[in-house]
Amino acid sequence: MATQILLKNIDVPGLTDIHVYKGLGGYSALEKALKNFTPDQVTEEVKKSGLRGRGGAGFPTGMKWGFIDKQSEKPRYLVCNYDESEPGTFKDRYIGELNPHQLIEGMIIGSYALGAKSAYIYIRGELFYVIKIIEKAIQEAYKNGLLGNNILGSDYSLDLYCHPGAGAYICGEETALLESLEGKRGNPRIKPPFPAIVGLYDCPTVVNNVETIAALPWIITNGSAAYSAIGIGNSKGTKLISACGHINKPGIYEIELGLPVEEFIYSDEYCGGIINGNKLKAVVAGGSSVPILPAELILKTAAGEPRLMSYESLAEGGFKTGTMMGSGGFIVMDHTTCIVKNLLTFARFYRHESCGQCSPCREGTSWMEKILMRIEGGQGTMKDIDLLVNIAKHVEGNTICPLGDAAAWPVASAILHFREEFEEHVKLQKCPF
Ligand SMILES: Cc1cc2nc3c(=O)[nH]c(=O)nc-3n(C[C@H](O)[C@H](O)[C@H](O)COP(=O)(O)O)c2cc1C
Ligand code: SF4
Repeated sequence: MATQILLKNIDVPGLTDIHVYKGLGGYSALEKALKNFTPDQVTEEVKKSGLRGRGGAGFPTGMKWGFIDKQSEKPRYLVCNYDESEPGTFKDRYIGELNPHQLIEGMIIGSYALGAKSAYIYIRGELFYVIKIIEKAIQEAYKNGLLGNNILGSDYSLDLYCHPGAGAYICGEETALLESLEGKRGNPRIKPPFPAIVGLYDCPTVVNNVETIAALPWIITNGSAAYSAIGIGNSKGTKLISACGHINKPGIYEIELGLPVEEFIYSDEYCGGIINGNKLKAVVAGGSSVPILPAELILKTAAGEPRLMSYESLAEGGFKTGTMMGSGGFIVMDHTTCIVKNLLTFARFYRHESCGQCSPCREGTSWMEKILMRIEGGQGTMKDIDLLVNIAKHVEGNTICPLGDAAAWPVASAILHFREEFEEHVKLQKCPF
């Protein structure tokens, strides 16, 4: 059984209650941090652990905290990104729903490290039942002297707020999130400046994913060396994977980074194999924004090595033969799947969610959806396939935020790996599935 850092106590009845959480050792990491570590020592510990952001980009967490402008006289903020709207990704909701105090404890530890006096959990509005659970847990933490003035008798004070979003995927992009938190339309900002310098209300800010923050109590309790001993290469610790699609056991799994992809898909401990013993066709390994890989390339790299669930191994081969860890949304497709139809679903999502600020994304997502509708509907031409590739190329890298790339990569990779299937749609003038 793999080490469990995030889901260890998830089945304990009543875990959302602070007394149950404390009974299992909860909030002892916070006590340890406040008593034994200076804020900079907490940051150092997180740096040494090798923890990388779990929101998608995999940026080293301690390094990001190190960018915060501590010379600034302005207030500093820690903001938890609980927007989780990426198709195929449904891991963060589990933490808030079943173990909210682990997230709150992580928020207090992170805020202490950054010297923040106010912190925010920006949560996807549709998760209204999770919002209620988190708000109740925040009130319990105040009543128990874990939030507010002089936490646990120390000279550190913090206020924590839970702020619901209004249901836009783009508000998961960190600068759009900050705009939304400030009460404005959630349009991404041009970077630089990055939030560590100019963030919430123009003040130094760190935005971190739920899973990133929820790992902090374990790191403080067990030490950075214990955390970095788990995993492989520069992929340390454990990772939540939300697995869905044509598998026998869809669900949320905590894996040790470095697990072979084949074991993840076929072993009974995880996905339990493909439904009805069907043939694996393709996998989107990191949420809808990452390149799709055909079965042979998700199980083995182009060099014939077993593909591992790690940042490096999944990216091995670049965008020609590799993909990305992304947010950990693992979508499995069997041989009955129409890749064009699947891509059309993704394209429709990105067209709908584009904020419209930049022309390549606003127009490109709309054109890609229209052309895919043509091909899937049997009215496509061979030229349409090349046109799609051309549009994806012009969207990628030419936009304010990575939503443009996220819309372009699935299109470019699906045509790269499954061109024949697109051509078959054109030749037959209908969907062959
Ligand atoms: C369109 C878009 C949507 C995103 N949605 C999320 C999200 O729902 N949750 C999240 O943590 N990060 C999301 N991100 C990534 C954030 O911008 C940011 O990198 C992340 O919150 C940083 O946290 P981390 O360092 O802990 O990963 C999104 C990025 C983009 C471009
Ligand atoms: S890439 Fe798309 S979502 Fe991002 S800022 Fe531009 S238009 Fe908006």
